[in-house]
Amino acid sequence: MKLSKKELHQLIQTKIQRAGLSKEQAEIVSDVLTFADARGIHSHGAVRVEYYAERIAKGGITNQPHFEFKKTAPSCGIFEADNGSGHVAATKAMSEAMKMAKETGIGAVGIRNMSHSGALAYFVEMAAQEDLVALSVCQSDPMVVPFGGSEAYYGTNPIAFAAPSADERMITFDMATTVQAWGKVLHARSKKEPIPNTWAVDENGEPTTDPTKVNALLPIAGPKGSGLMMMVDILSGVLLGLPFGKHVSSMYHDLSNGRELGQLHIVFNPAFFTDLTEFKQNISQMLDELKEITPANGFTEVNFPGERGRLRETRYEELGIELVDDIYTYLISDTIHENKYDHKNKFAE
Ligand code: NAI
Repeated sequence: MKLSKKELHQLIQTKIQRAGLSKEQAEIVSDVLTFADARGIHSHGAVRVEYYAERIAKGGITNQPHFEFKKTAPSCGIFEADNGSGHVAATKAMSEAMKMAKETGIGAVGIRNMSHSGALAYFVEMAAQEDLVALSVCQSDPMVVPFGGSEAYYGTNPIAFAAPSADERMITFDMATTVQAWGKVLHARSKKEPIPNTWAVDENGEPTTDPTKVNALLPIAGPKGSGLMMMVDILSGVLLGLPFGKHVSSMYHDLSNGRELGQLHIVFNPAFFTDLTEFKQNISQMLDELKEITPANGFTEVNFPGERGRLRETRYEELGIELVDDIYTYLISDTIHENKYDHKNKFAE
């Protein structure tokens, strides 16, 4: 089934609102999820709606959270999220970080006690749209074997970065520190497709191509990915006084309790470091120079981070966003959730 961005947005918003969030919050959740599907990040779009709806309905995402932002210094602060929606908390916290960066050059906001916030690109792009540069990292539930280990310890701990240019292009680098995000396994599962044997291991620690047999994911680039995961967990967990490593709550363990997750946004105002116009022109120059590079065998050109997602968005605007049938059927139904996710193991089996 193919839907326009507007149709998809409306369906997601309605479902999240019916699950129990206010209209304002449901709209933000839908903004972030629709953004993900529109960019082709299907692992973090509509595929997640039923999970969020179940968690909201069971109280594990606070439906009327008491959000509180406390400035702890001119350039930093803590956003207490009261286990509310991660999408809403991360959006509001980014606005606070941007405000501080505009005034002081840097704004760093740690979000405490939030729920899953989805595709981090959405939040860093908020800053880049206003001529700021942003970095965001967050923890996720332990499902990754550290380099040299046979048991999961870290999450897929993503890192996102965005920067503006002097033209309509924007750099949006956004990745899980695993070979693939867990959501990609979930997406393969929903489409009943195999996964490459480099993504994950089964319960014996052996590489698997069956998305239903995944027991742990693998970090990117061995020890380097393991190190990045550790860095993310320290910045978004330990630094904020939150559970870390294997103590981070599981997405599917108990949907009636808050997840107590952390995320850190750091926003830089280029105007406090260099000349803003020159900065943006240099980013544009960098992108132009990448395009001038002779492509390697098998490539037609060098793509910069975020470029392909934006091309997909343009294509989807013409053709519509393709939704898996099961997800569409759920979205148009009256069902809030079918009790699919609670007390499943971390891989929702
Ligand atoms: P990915 O592997 O699809 O892309 C990673 C980065 O590489 C992107 O910046 C993309 O623009 C760039 N890229 C991909 N192919 C490229 C190419 N051919 N040429 C140039 N650049 C290219 O992303 P991944 O790792 O699968 O992450 C997907 C999403 O999952 C992200 O939005 C991330 O924030 C989200 N995530 C969220 C978590 C959470 O707990 N909230 C946990 C883990 C991931």
